[in-house]
Amino acid sequence: MPQSNKHRETQTYDAILNGGPPVALLAQTFITPTALFFTRNHTVVPQIDRHAYRLIIDGMVEKPTEWTLDDLMSRFPRKHVTATLQCAGNRRKELIAYRPIDDQLDWGLEAIGNAEWSGISLADVLRETGVQPGAAYVAFEGADNIGGADNPKGYGGSIELSKALSPEMLLADEMNGTALEPIHGFPLRAIVPGYIGARSVKWLRRITVQDVPSDNPFQQDAYKLFPSRVNKENVRLDEGLMLSEMTVNSAIMRPQAGDTIQAGLVTIEGYAITGGHRTIAWVDVSADGGETWQRADLLHEPQPYAWCLWRATFTLSPGKHQLVVRAWDSGANTQPESIASVWNYKGYMNNAWHRIHIEVE
Ligand code: MTE
Repeated sequence: MPQSNKHRETQTYDAILNGGPPVALLAQTFITPTALFFTRNHTVVPQIDRHAYRLIIDGMVEKPTEWTLDDLMSRFPRKHVTATLQCAGNRRKELIAYRPIDDQLDWGLEAIGNAEWSGISLADVLRETGVQPGAAYVAFEGADNIGGADNPKGYGGSIELSKALSPEMLLADEMNGTALEPIHGFPLRAIVPGYIGARSVKWLRRITVQDVPSDNPFQQDAYKLFPSRVNKENVRLDEGLMLSEMTVNSAIMRPQAGDTIQAGLVTIEGYAITGGHRTIAWVDVSADGGETWQRADLLHEPQPYAWCLWRATFTLSPGKHQLVVRAWDSGANTQPESIASVWNYKGYMNNAWHRIHIEVE
C-alpha cells in the first residue's frame, strides 16, 4: 500500500509505514474501508499487548488515574462518531510542484479517509478524574518511540481543554466496527474530529491536563504553519502557528490528472471537507479553468467532522480541459485560488483550488 513513502528505500526508516490508497478507490464510498485508509507514522508501529496496556491520566486533575482497557471500556458509556482524518500534508505534491519542499512526504490526494470511530468520551473520563482550575490544554502521548534508544519519548500533541470536553472527542478502540488495527493505534487512540490528523494521537498511553500546550516536538516544532517568506534557514519555530482545526478544502478524485476520456457527458467526482464544527455549504466545479462554474450535487447531507462527497456532470467536447473545484463551508470560508498564496516551507494545509488537466477525445 505505501505510495508516498519516500523513506522506504532507506535503511533507517524501513519499518515506517506511510501511504494511502489509489485515489479512484477512495472516491467510491462515504465510509473509507479500513484497508483503504491512509496511514501516517513517524516511527515504527509499537506492538502492544492488550492485557498489559495501561492508560495514565495525570497533570492538573483532582484524581490521577491509571486504567486497563477493560476498566475504561466498562466504566463509561459507548460513543460513536463519523469523522474524517486528514493529514496536514495532504495535497503537498501540488505545493512541491510549485516550489520544492525538503524532507516531507509528497502526498497527493490520498492522505485522507472517513471512518466510524467508537469508544468512550474523553469528557466522561475527565469528569471522573476532575479538572483543576487553571487547566487549559489536554496533552496526549503515544507509546511509539520518536526519541531513539537514548531518549525514549512518545509522539505527542495537545488540544484545548474546551475541545477535549466536547462531545465528539473520543478515545477510540474501534474503527469501522472492529478493534483498531495496530497501524491505526491499537488498542486506543484519540480521535479529534475537525482537527488535523496529527492531533489524533495513536497508541495512547498518557493524557496530561495542563495549563500550556504540549512540549512534544510534534506540537512545538512540526505541524506549525509559516508564511511563504519563511524557510528552514530563517525560521523561528516559536513564531509558527500551531495547527489545529482543518480548513475548508476539496479535490477532484475522478477523473484524474492526465486521463483521456470520451467526449459527451462526463461525470466529475470528489470530496470536500472542512474543520471545527463547520459543515460544507456548497461545492463549485469548473471545466474551463475557472472561467465558468457549476454547482455540484452533494451526495449526502453535510455533517460536521465528516467529508462530503460530490458529483457534477458536464458535456465536454474534444480537446484539453482544465477541471477545477472549490468549496464553501458554513462559516462562509472558501478556498484560495492560487497555490502560490498557500505555499509554506513545510508543505501543510494546501487548500488552494484543486485543478487537473484532462484530454477529451
Ligand atoms: N500518533 C502517534 N503516536 N504517532 C504518529 O506518528 N501520526 C499522526 C496521528 N497520530 C502519529 C499519531 C498523524 S501525522 C496522522 S495524519 C494520523 O495519526 C494518521 O492516522 P492513521 O495512520 O490512522 O491514518
